[in-house]
Amino acid sequence: MDVKACIFDLDGVIVDTAVYHYRAWKRLANELGFDFTEEQNEQLKGVSRMASLKLILGWGNMGQLSDEEMNKLADKKNDWYVDMITHMTPAEILPGAKEFVSACRQAGIKTAIGSASKNTPVILQKLELTPLFDVIVDGNSVSAPKPAPEVFVKGAAMLGVPPANCIVFEDAVAGIEAARNGGMKAVGIGQPEVLTKAAKVISGLDQISVDQLQHI
Ligand code: G6P
Ligand code: MG
Repeated sequence: MDVKACIFDLDGVIVDTAVYHYRAWKRLANELGFDFTEEQNEQLKGVSRMASLKLILGWGNMGQLSDEEMNKLADKKNDWYVDMITHMTPAEILPGAKEFVSACRQAGIKTAIGSASKNTPVILQKLELTPLFDVIVDGNSVSAPKPAPEVFVKGAAMLGVPPANCIVFEDAVAGIEAARNGGMKAVGIGQPEVLTKAAKVISGLDQISVDQLQHI
């Protein structure tokens, strides 16, 4: 494969924000009088803020809430989440992530972020990674959530690279499906038993080199 661009999911690939999402969602659920497990939390990876809230309210048997109530709850969770991520530093970048993205650029491969998170700009800024990406597509600029391919297709188009020449790096099942739905190969970050549809699965970006990309 002739790789011309690498598109990276943010949460779980470049930085482990899942723990902050979990703490904030758990606090909200606890305030509403119920709890959910870490296993259930796995199902929230790659899932948009509103879709996550709907899943959690379902787990708590909260019944139907009005749009206004739902927005209030989502805002509350996000305020707590933002409080936590504003304290993040470059020390929280996952092992090998900065090095691999830099190596891609040095090899002439374009780089993009493709994330569902509306907090992408602040996270990249706190990690001091914004300049490493040619294009940033996030939850503020797409409407169809993963597994819809919109976020990655848009990234590829903005980079001017055909999907067949793009590789997506993803930790979520929905994200791998999104890449495939967009005609791109996906490298899974996590466990092969979970990310069964990925072309290759690695434990992190410290486990891959630019030379290996052509063989995916
Ligand atoms: C990523 C995370 C999800 C999160 C979503 C929206 O996909 O994996 O857990 O719900 O982004 O994030 P946001 O920062 O916009 O609430
Ligand atoms: Mg992710």
